[in-house]
Amino acid sequence: MNPHQSNQTLSDIDIEGRYALAREVAHEAARRGMEYYKRRGSLTVEHKGGDLQDVVSMVDRELEEFIREQLLERYPEDGFLGEESGSERLDARCVWVIDPIDGTACFVNGLHSWCVSVGLMIDGQPHLGAIADPNHSELFHGCRGKGAYVNDTPLRVSSATHVREGLMGVGTFHPRGKEYFLPFLHSLLNEGGMFIRNGSGALMTAYVAAGRLIGYYETQLKSWDCLAGLVLVEEAGGRRNDFFRNNGLLDGNPYLVAGPGVFDQIKDLIGPSLDE
Ligand code: IPD
Ligand code: CA
Ligand code: CA
Repeated sequence: MNPHQSNQTLSDIDIEGRYALAREVAHEAARRGMEYYKRRGSLTVEHKGGDLQDVVSMVDRELEEFIREQLLERYPEDGFLGEESGSERLDARCVWVIDPIDGTACFVNGLHSWCVSVGLMIDGQPHLGAIADPNHSELFHGCRGKGAYVNDTPLRVSSATHVREGLMGVGTFHPRGKEYFLPFLHSLLNEGGMFIRNGSGALMTAYVAAGRLIGYYETQLKSWDCLAGLVLVEEAGGRRNDFFRNNGLLDGNPYLVAGPGVFDQIKDLIGPSLDE
């Protein structure tokens, strides 16, 4: 049971306005990101918490500030959670959950695999999202009950019924990497499956919604990496694990999204760590 009052209905909320704003802001932030990307050689790259693989630059912080300002100027009563600036008003009915650049390692290394992700939770549930990929001119977006799209084209998850029928997105970071990632790859390959890692969890989630990937597993993901994409997967007919359990919104959790025909098979290949 979520903490929000049961006598409040969704009709009290301007969902259409927020959906349009999410698309507009993600698109504009991605356009601004692209300007920096073309000049990325002059950026100073910093490392978070001493991990040389965990990178960030002023572009992440600047875009997050731009997104935060645009969203809260229009809807000042809303809550906000962003990768770079943290959280405010998490008890609001509407909480924006955003990643200004998902795929920062790709961004700073010149790999065209990064995006801006803007998601909105209503009453504790992912409700709408927009993921803008300026390198491929793709804007993935969706809203609960209204479908999921890339630009204007509707999305549908893969109809695969076995992992050998398609490509699986995967990802990891060092803390849970060696322990869970390598055994999963071993099991996947044993079943005749194949994997890719493109360095952006938000894009791989969108690709599951689009049926380009049959599923996507990450040993530990944060909510800003996936909240927008989760709406797309649900609207496109896919399944997800119980990502928000145990304070998943703030702390993250192991993560699996997949088409319904392979979800249980992949879950079995991962094993109990998915729900720990
Ligand atoms: C990362 C990407 C990557 C995933 C990492 C995330 P960032 O986000 O989504 O695909 O493997 O776990 O942290 O740092 O580029 O925003
Ligand atoms: Ca991210
Ligand atoms: Ca990020």
